[in-house]
Amino acid sequence: MPKVLFLPHKIILPQGGEFKAIEGETILSVALRNNIQLEHACEKSCACSTCHCIIRKGFFSLSGWSEKEDDILDKAWGLESESRLSCQAIIGTVDIEVEIPLYSVNYVTE
Ligand code: FES
Repeated sequence: MPKVLFLPHKIILPQGGEFKAIEGETILSVALRNNIQLEHACEKSCACSTCHCIIRKGFFSLSGWSEKEDDILDKAWGLESESRLSCQAIIGTVDIEVEIPLYSVNYVTE
């Protein structure tokens, strides 16, 4: 069973945390199941960038990404080459390390 290590985030998860994942589950699903309040303004439909995260370890073990995810990611705050939308990135068999960016861009509330 792969594990997801969420690095400390000063508001959402100050101590960070490591959680077991079910193979085939998304990063967002692991977060929400463990009461990590990761934003997901479009309810996981790949239409916002609020669930943006950066994969610090295990990036290539995740499912591939679509052109639509790529387009949405372009709007994310703090975009990096190993950024993913946590609602789209499906966990494989490898442990991963995830950074939740300090800010997100929520066009719904701005
Ligand atoms: Fe909107 Fe992931 S929740 S793209």
